Amino acid sequence: MQDLFRKLLNYAVMAPSSHNTQPWLFRLLEDGVEILADRTRALPVVDPEDRELTMSCGALLYHVRLGMRVHGLADRVERAPEPEARPDLLARVHAAGAHAATPAEKALFEAIPARHTFRFPFEMRIVPGPVIDELRGACEQEGAAFHLAPDEQRQALAQLVMEGDRRQGADKRFRRELASWLHNNRTHSHDGIPGYAMGASEWASYVTPFVVRTFDWGTAQAIDDRKLMEGSPVLAVIATEHDATRSWLHAGEALARVLLRAQQEGLSASYLNQPIEVDDLRPKVAALLGIQGSPQLLLRIGYGQTGRSTPRRAAAQLILP
Ligand SMILES: Cc1cc2nc3c(=O)[nH]c(=O)nc-3n(C[C@H](O)[C@H](O)[C@H](O)COP(=O)(O)O)c2cc1C
Repeated sequence: MQDLFRKLLNYAVMAPSSHNTQPWLFRLLEDGVEILADRTRALPVVDPEDRELTMSCGALLYHVRLGMRVHGLADRVERAPEPEARPDLLARVHAAGAHAATPAEKALFEAIPARHTFRFPFEMRIVPGPVIDELRGACEQEGAAFHLAPDEQRQALAQLVMEGDRRQGADKRFRRELASWLHNNRTHSHDGIPGYAMGASEWASYVTPFVVRTFDWGTAQAIDDRKLMEGSPVLAVIATEHDATRSWLHAGEALARVLLRAQQEGLSASYLNQPIEVDDLRPKVAALLGIQGSPQLLLRIGYGQTGRSTPRRAAAQLILP
């Protein structure tokens, strides 16, 4: 069983994570695996409560569960089982008998290596209603809500994203933290974001970290993001009823499932989380879209080209003794 879990972890680590920090560690069990938060990889400025860190681990958790099901095992998950004694233990996943993989599960699993964040303009093609319903279903099945931004709220949502951009761009600590995870296109680093994932040419990728760290680029970013939003057929917020560890895990699981379902439909996605990351803008996102609980992620989804993969640390090196 441990050999299977070692193999599944290679797929699990392809999950998205904020700034590609890959903030996870593992411990193999007789019948499964523990997923632990690696808080040395936290982002204290943009993510002071480790909310996005926990969602990243939730995305990885979904990959583990999906892999198990495709390999004939039902999964039983304990989320944050020992919050006082072991707060870093985010999930304990157990094999729970046999499971006959469905074609839908196999297709989702096959989408794992092909899914990449796509931060560029989409084609001018609408996403059909039934496909959006599939994405909503994927999200809800993982215990999170999928709030589509209606046409009449798009403008106001774009204003909140732009305000988030301006605030983050003006914040030296935010810029320094982001720059420390940006790498050039020839990086040998196994984490962080290479310039090509943000559209930087070979040359530009060498200066991007310096520029990001040094200058207030908030207004320029706001203009770019407004254009991206105008050309995005789907803008949707993933939200949860509560705002604590277990909900964050569910939000991450929902994110992974939505992204894989989107990938299967030939859709790409990227993030516009700025107004959810800036404390006083978050309730405004909730109010605008009539969200009762807590907004967790803002996604733009549409038809783009296939993105390029970003580096990962080898799963085998992240398994604790
Ligand atoms: C919780 C979470 C938050 C993220 N927030 C952003 C974001 O605000 N902006 C962005 O461009 N990418 C964001 N990302 C995407 C990551 O940067 C991306 O997953 C990572 O660089 C790995 O690249 P990949 O998704 O192409 O595999 C986020 C991912 C996660 C899981």
